[in-house]
Amino acid sequence: MARSPAEFVLLLMAAAIWSFFLVAGAGQLQPSCIGRERDALLAFKQGVSDDPKDYLGSWRQERQDCCQWAGITCDNVTGHVVELDLGQGNYLAGQISPSLLSLEHLEYLNLWGTGLCGPGGRVPEFLGSLKNLKYLDLSGMSFSGMVPPQFGNLSKLEYLDLSRIHFNNTQMVLTDISWLTRLPLLVQLDMSLINLSSIADWPLVVNKIPSLKLLRLVECSLSSANQSLTHLNLTNLHNLDLSFNHFGHPIASGWFWNLTSIKDLSLASNYLYGPFPDALANMTSLQWLDLQDMGNKATMTVDLKNLCDLEELWLDGSLSSGNITEFLDKLPQCPSNKLQYLYLSSNNMAGILSNRMGHLTNLFWFDISYNNITGAIPLGIGNLSCLQSLVLSNNFLTGAIPLGIGNLSSLEAVYLSNNFLTGAIPLGIGNLSSLEVLYLSNNLLTGAIPLELGNCTYVYLSNNKFSGPIQLGIEHCTTLEELDLSDNNITGVIPPWLGNCTSLRHLSLSNNLLVGHVPSKITLLGNLTELALGNNNLDGVITEEHLVALKNLEHLDLSHNSFSGPMPLEFGAYK
Ligand SMILES: *[C@@H]1O[C@H](CO)[C@@H](O)[C@H](O)[C@H]1NC(C)=O
Ligand SMILES: *[C@@H]1O[C@H](CO)[C@@H](O)[C@H](O)[C@H]1NC(C)=O
Ligand SMILES: *[C@@H]1O[C@H](CO)[C@@H](O)[C@H](O)[C@H]1NC(C)=O
Ligand SMILES: *[C@@H]1O[C@H](CO)[C@@H](O)[C@H](O)[C@H]1NC(C)=O
Ligand SMILES: *[C@@H]1O[C@H](CO)[C@@H](O)[C@H](O)[C@H]1NC(C)=O
Ligand SMILES: *[C@@H]1O[C@H](CO)[C@@H](O)[C@H](O)[C@H]1NC(C)=O
Ligand SMILES: *[C@@H]1O[C@H](CO)[C@@H](O)[C@H](O)[C@H]1NC(C)=O
Ligand SMILES: *[C@@H]1O[C@H](CO)[C@@H](O)[C@H](O)[C@H]1NC(C)=O
Ligand SMILES: *[C@@H]1O[C@H](CO)[C@@H](O)[C@H](O)[C@H]1NC(C)=O
Ligand SMILES: *[C@@H]1O[C@H](CO)[C@@H](O)[C@H](O)[C@H]1NC(C)=O
Ligand SMILES: *[C@@H]1O[C@H](CO)[C@@H](O)[C@H](O)[C@H]1NC(C)=O
Ligand SMILES: *[C@@H]1O[C@H](CO)[C@@H](O)[C@H](O)[C@H]1NC(C)=O
Repeated sequence: MARSPAEFVLLLMAAAIWSFFLVAGAGQLQPSCIGRERDALLAFKQGVSDDPKDYLGSWRQERQDCCQWAGITCDNVTGHVVELDLGQGNYLAGQISPSLLSLEHLEYLNLWGTGLCGPGGRVPEFLGSLKNLKYLDLSGMSFSGMVPPQFGNLSKLEYLDLSRIHFNNTQMVLTDISWLTRLPLLVQLDMSLINLSSIADWPLVVNKIPSLKLLRLVECSLSSANQSLTHLNLTNLHNLDLSFNHFGHPIASGWFWNLTSIKDLSLASNYLYGPFPDALANMTSLQWLDLQDMGNKATMTVDLKNLCDLEELWLDGSLSSGNITEFLDKLPQCPSNKLQYLYLSSNNMAGILSNRMGHLTNLFWFDISYNNITGAIPLGIGNLSCLQSLVLSNNFLTGAIPLGIGNLSSLEAVYLSNNFLTGAIPLGIGNLSSLEVLYLSNNLLTGAIPLELGNCTYVYLSNNKFSGPIQLGIEHCTTLEELDLSDNNITGVIPPWLGNCTSLRHLSLSNNLLVGHVPSKITLLGNLTELALGNNNLDGVITEEHLVALKNLEHLDLSHNSFSGPMPLEFGAYK
């Protein structure tokens, strides 16, 4: 950067004034760093062998005030370095120098994701001597061996993240975590993706840290959570994530069920079985409850009416049976209903959807797909005015699609395929301005394909009893990427305006009663990878120009029509 002489003079003056204040020791100014700590940081830099982003570029002897260096925060009264933040995508590699021990006042150390390590590729024991540390993040780092028991000396630690520590692509294995009990102020502990399989009494250890608010042991190869604890200490716990372990015991024997302070609880992918305990009904702080993918051996008859703060309930792929009518009746019924996400897919649930589900007024996402639910879609569904995704596919639903769905102006995705729905598509659906996805395939729907579906991205109407001509998307179909109208009784010609739907990648019109020529405008669909027109009464000549223009075509089905002339040999991706 070139500076004019005048600017230089100004800079010099500024520097002079600055040093005057420093010499004068003006108390209001931020103190520059302490020499011994600066030397320690420079020694630390010596150990860094790779700094691809030049993150430590500002760490230089001649830039005296180390408090201004990247990643450093000093106490603004004493001038001691209190924070060292080298994590988050800086990709530093090398050795963690013991010179850090000179930073006696260090409270915050973040090395997340860096390639730094200790002697012999191990977690350096000396980190356990940084006795003022409150925050230590070593997540995603590469160490071999154990976490040294010296970490139990970090008695001021409030936040400890050891998650995803690995070596040579294998998880770190810990056989002793008893040192954790010497961290009486610990609030957040994450050891996810560390192998703790040999530590059978892990709940007894964590139960000795009453300050814990967050405990995350995701994918730790833990084999059980049914240890009996005489007294539950963890009354401050807000967040407990034990997902992806191997708990093969009854759900109700989990040690944590009486912890009514928990807001976020995840037991997903754990193969727990049997009934959920009634204690769940008392966990009124719950906001996020993730019980999905347990292997379809659980049952849930607990009354959840008082869980007024519950926002998300994930229970897909976990129940062996259930009655959707009774289940929905037991969901929270509070003056202000907060439930937004409800996932119940693949649970072998039977029963019917009752109009009483109208109390779920705040629902964004409702997924009961892949169950054995019968009966009609209740009219009350039209009251769920926040609904963005309605997923009822793969059930035994009958009757018509309620008109009220056309009033749900937030709807983005409607999945009703693989049911026995009858009647016509309610006209309102075409006017839903946010709708992107409409899956109605494999039902018994009749009537015409409505206008104005062209603003969607994915439209699947195959294998129904739709009749009449293709009249969808008259004006606007530029967002349409996949359109499947196959296996219906659609008549008339392929409309030339389909050529205006230039984002189309999949177009299937096969097994219908279409007649006439394939319009030349179809050549405008340069993104098409799949074109299926088989089993219609189309005629005319398919020319090479037709197909050469479809340069991305991978699948083409023109079979069982009345085309004349020679079949072009070269087209699309087969050139
Ligand atoms: C020191 O910094 C903290 C946090 O930025 C601030 O709240 C405090 O007022 C500062 N103290 C002084 C003496 O400048
Ligand atoms: C720290 O912990 C280790 C092992 O747990 C112990 O031997 C040592 O005395 C403790 N104290 C200090 C100051 O390192
Ligand atoms: C890393 O793992 C690979 C394959 O598991 C092994 O061949 C290699 O020796 C290991 N390297 C080290 C340094 O342990
Ligand atoms: C509860 O925590 C305290 C303090 O850490 C501990 O002394 C006590 O043994 C714990 N109780 C149980 C049952 O673990
Ligand atoms: C949970 O509370 C119930 C009733 O309050 C009690 O019977 C049970 O022993 C408690 N379980 C644990 C693990 O504290
Ligand atoms: C729920 O809480 C109430 C009141 O605290 C208690 O009497 C009851 O035993 C608890 N129920 C269960 C199943 O823990
Ligand atoms: C659900 O329906 C499937 C397919 O008809 C059937 O095999 C299964 O036994 C049913 N399950 C229940 C719980 O009714
Ligand atoms: C589901 O529960 C309702 C209400 O208790 C009951 O009337 C219905 O028969 C049940 N359905 C099935 C399939 O069990
Ligand atoms: C479809 O998109 C066009 C252009 O973006 C817009 O004018 C029209 O209102 C949309 N139709 C619906 C039903 O949202
Ligand atoms: C299509 O129409 C024919 C006669 O026009 C009728 O026999 C056939 O059942 C219809 N197919 C469907 C799927 O509606
Ligand atoms: C299709 O696009 C052309 C311009 O490429 C436009 O003139 C014509 O009106 C469009 N047709 C329809 C039905 O939107
Ligand atoms: C194909 O898709 C791209 C974006 O995915 C879009 O920009 C382009 O206009 C589309 N149409 C054609 C004919 O390539």
